[in-house]
This record gives sequence, structure tokens and C-alpha cells, in this order.
Amino acid sequence: MERCLAPSILSADFGILKEQLQLIDEAGAQYVHFDVMDGMFVPSISFGLPVLKTIRKYTDRLFDVHLMIMDPERYVKEFAEAGADIITVHAEATKHLDATVDLIKNSGAMAGVAINPATPVSSIIHVLDKVDMVLIMTVNPGFGGQRLIPYTVDKVRELSEICKQKKLKLDIEVDGGINLDTIDQVLDAGANIIVAGSAAFAGDVKSNVEALLERM
Ligand code: DX5
Ligand code: ZN
Repeated sequence: MERCLAPSILSADFGILKEQLQLIDEAGAQYVHFDVMDGMFVPSISFGLPVLKTIRKYTDRLFDVHLMIMDPERYVKEFAEAGADIITVHAEATKHLDATVDLIKNSGAMAGVAINPATPVSSIIHVLDKVDMVLIMTVNPGFGGQRLIPYTVDKVRELSEICKQKKLKLDIEVDGGINLDTIDQVLDAGANIIVAGSAAFAGDVKSNVEALLERM
């Protein structure tokens, strides 16, 4: 599977978001990772539809929307209409995961399913053949700048093996604590979509993104 970098704008400077998007674009990042938090599923509140609609016109890159919200099915259609290319919901946040995945696909977006560190890979086994991407959280969601939890890398390897056995071609995304020190281990384990928040936006954005891309 193709390897892509998804800088998370949660760590961007919101005052100059348009310029920051241009920088990651120029550096060659293929995706924009958009973290939506509701203060319920995770402790923080981040941003939502109005921000997505506003920045959608500043970049053609693929919008990778990570919904860290309870009952995400309530907003799938609106995020798809606002320009989300991939919509990822947490298995822990929706009562009817199978139906929510169908809803995403019917909205015209690609469907992703995310699992928290303590949620086993087996919990999503039955939807693997209908999703485009699985997001293995490598930290507990809610904040940027945390350290990667080592056992989550074993889950990436486990999922990658399952996909090989079942001949499933789906993207495996990792999110949380990915930087130049940790990127190699998640790539080796089989992840191909790499989210980077603080590693992309702290300091010189363009050179950060270029350095991460060079390792992929
Ligand atoms: C965490 C978010 C991440 C976050 C990653 O809950 O889902 O996308 O922005 O930030 P870093 O890369 O700094 O851990
Ligand atoms: Zn995220």
C-alpha cells in the first residue's frame, strides 16, 4: 500500500492556518488530518464543520477527518458534504458500527474505523472487508504531543497480518506520538498512513514535513 503523511492540524497555528496548509502542501504531504473532538468521547473540544468548510478551499489534498465524538453517525452526512474525503469513526463511540460504516460509504466518502489503545483488533474484525482504512490509535485520543504507547505497535502488526491472510487491501493509519524517533517502528509493523501533529507543526513546518516524508 502507498505510504502517505497526514499532518494533523490540531497542532497548527490556527491564526495562520491557511499559510500552514500551504507549507505542508509544498513540502509534499498527501493528506490533511482533521481532528474533531466533542468534549465527551475525549476530554477536549477542538473544531468542526465551519473550520473544515473554510479551509477546504485552500488545499486539494485529501481531507482525513478523524471524528473523536460520541454517536458520530449524527454528523457523517454533513462532514461528507463539507468536503471530507475519508471519515473515520471510533468503534467505541457508535452503537452500530456496521451501519455507521455503511452510512459513510453511502455519503460518498471513504470509511475509516478507529480503535483506542485498549480496544482489541478483534473488535473490528467483521467490518474489515467493508472499510477503506483502520486507524490504530498509538496514544489515548484527546491531545497532541503525547508519547506513543509501545504495545499499540503490536496491534498494527497483528492487523497487518490479518489483512495479508484475508487478502484485504486496506490502509492502516497510526495516530499519536509519531515523530522521527518512532516512525520506523510503525512503518515496519505495517502502517502506511502516518499522522503527525507536533512533529509536523512544532518549529519549521516545511522542513519537519520533508524530514518525515524522507523516512517513508
Ligand atoms: C490525538 C489526535 C492526533 C493528534 C496527534 O488525539 O487524534 O491526531 O493531533 O498529535 P501528535 O502527533 O502530536 O501526537
Ligand atoms: Zn487524529
